[in-house]
Amino acid sequence: MKAVLVCGSPRKNGNTQKILEIAQETLLMEGIDTELVLLSDATVHPCIGCLTCKKTRDMSCAIKEDDFHEIFGKMLNADAIVVGTPVYFGCATSQTTSLLHRAGYVARNNGNPLSGKIGAPVVVARRAGQNFTYAQLVFFYTISDMTVVGSSYWNVAFGKNPGEVLCDEEAVQTVKKCMKNIAALLQCRKKE
Ligand SMILES: Cc1cc2nc3c(=O)[nH]c(=O)nc-3n(C[C@H](O)[C@H](O)[C@H](O)COP(=O)(O)O)c2cc1C
Repeated sequence: MKAVLVCGSPRKNGNTQKILEIAQETLLMEGIDTELVLLSDATVHPCIGCLTCKKTRDMSCAIKEDDFHEIFGKMLNADAIVVGTPVYFGCATSQTTSLLHRAGYVARNNGNPLSGKIGAPVVVARRAGQNFTYAQLVFFYTISDMTVVGSSYWNVAFGKNPGEVLCDEEAVQTVKKCMKNIAALLQCRKKE
């Protein structure tokens, strides 16, 4: 069973990456294979709405000259997809939405291989906008026929300067519990 964690922050070693590293550690301790994908190391252009994915039906996007297909392949191979993003002006980052728009549209025009996978959002902000951004990610998961896993609270965290998020103890515990819930669900599915 495998989980891919996608960090949608353009800032390497920032708060979103830090909290996703904790999520990754928790999943590993629960026996789940993981991979952390940093969009700060990648280029994913936005969807251009060409609808080529609707016509070719070969699980690919018309834009070839970036890292989309490699990352999308990792999402397709995973049983769980955890997407983390900082809040930018009350929303997910453009890096995050560029990936999700293209992944979601290519998938749904090709028999939706995301269907049945598990998802969980992780959102970080200095002060406000976490809930809206959390909902934005839930919209992606649920239109993709994925199962969203909860915790004792929503996976929302506070932090401004890199590393500050680790002082938000409640958020850290919430994310850890969510990852344990994901692992438990994956183990149940494995037994089925
Ligand atoms: C362009 C931009 C827009 C931002 N918008 C918000 C916002 O709407 N609400 C908020 O609380 N913080 C906002 N922030 C602060 C970031 O969400 C915060 O610093 C976060 O920790 C960054 O995560 P990272 O370290 O993973 O990049 C913004 C930061 C930037 C650069």
